[in-house]
Amino acid sequence: MSAESPPAESTSRLLTPATRLTPPQIPALSDRASTLGSSAIRDLLAQAAQPGMISLAGGLPNPDLFPVHQLAEIAADALRRDGRQLLQYGLTGGQPETKDVLREHFGLGDQQLVITTGSQQGLDLLARILLNPGDQVVTSDSEYLGTLQALSAHGAVAVGFPVHKDGLDVAALEDRLAAGFRPKVAYVVPHFHNPTGATLSPERRKQLHALSSRYGFVVIEDDPYRELFYDSNPPTEVDADADWTIRLRSTSKTLAPGLRIGVVSGPRRILDAVTIAKQSCDLHTSSLNQAIIAAAVQAPWFDEHLDLLRSNYGKKRSAMLGALSAAFGDEVKVAKPAGGMFVWADFGSNVDTADWLKDALGAGVCFVPGSAFEVGRDLSGYMRLSFSTATVDGITEGVARLAKSARLG
Ligand SMILES: Cc1ncc(COP(=O)(O)O)c(C=O)c1O
Repeated sequence: MSAESPPAESTSRLLTPATRLTPPQIPALSDRASTLGSSAIRDLLAQAAQPGMISLAGGLPNPDLFPVHQLAEIAADALRRDGRQLLQYGLTGGQPETKDVLREHFGLGDQQLVITTGSQQGLDLLARILLNPGDQVVTSDSEYLGTLQALSAHGAVAVGFPVHKDGLDVAALEDRLAAGFRPKVAYVVPHFHNPTGATLSPERRKQLHALSSRYGFVVIEDDPYRELFYDSNPPTEVDADADWTIRLRSTSKTLAPGLRIGVVSGPRRILDAVTIAKQSCDLHTSSLNQAIIAAAVQAPWFDEHLDLLRSNYGKKRSAMLGALSAAFGDEVKVAKPAGGMFVWADFGSNVDTADWLKDALGAGVCFVPGSAFEVGRDLSGYMRLSFSTATVDGITEGVARLAKSARLG
């Protein structure tokens, strides 16, 4: 008998009916966890992986364009050179050398920044440190699901505003502010918005920044698609009040989302709070991944790699617009996105794209129904089509399958 085994007599005493323990219960979820729903897009991605399926659903970068060999060399070099440091715990705000490189790379001037585990973590940390339950956040009325999830996880309330060709309707926001609306934060994706593809014009952006310091709300500019422009020059920066502006950037769309590197830049008091919040999440973002990204964005091949992404995605954007117009003519309204990964297609209020999806899956194509992005407006006539991962032929065939499975009103 081991030293810890109780004597037989005491065991039987423990198990008398009066003292028998009730079976252990699986602990109940917290109130907060019980309110969280799984992302409709993530659930769909499971279906997108079926053999033969053409996925126009996920917002994933094209893995064929990942610079795998270059990153492998960089990673091996980094480990050989600085392995002991890169494999050790690191600073919560990020490796100082990586911060310098990314500040320069993203054109963030002399701004403070924190390196995050993807810009999604930046969104979650900002929601944690800025928002109390019930606080209102301006978003577009068709918004990136990851943002909506981060807001609702912290009890904040998204208030949707329409998006036009020139981006968020800032004039409508101004009217609401004048009438007493007091949001704590306004969230925008300034370039090639997910899901609408719209770009906020410099005029509207300036107007939004002017409103933020006048009415006292923080502007979060989440800009992960900024480098993926297909028509003209790179987007230009606009002046913003540094005390009221937070910028999120990411290398997920330009290098590899699996490395999970994003940055938050903004006023020191906010970044200090972000850093403290990050400590309890993951202590710090992988130092090895930071070193890989820092070396990659400075590598001689990087600019050519960006050109390749732009020309590949640009061609596929055109293929998708052409296929939609050929298949649906006037039955669909689409605005040509100037960059990014998405076409936002409006089939009108008689169509329910969530219903359509069931038939589309049967026909071997998938997309994300508009309802997944809704903020206070019925988007059931819309769908988000991603052109990043399918081939040009796949896009043409995928849109033909869409047309075959269509139930237009
Ligand atoms: C608008 C927007 N913000 C943030 C993210 C998250 O990106 P990351 O991989 O940097 O976490 C995405 C990803 O699709 C996105 O579309």
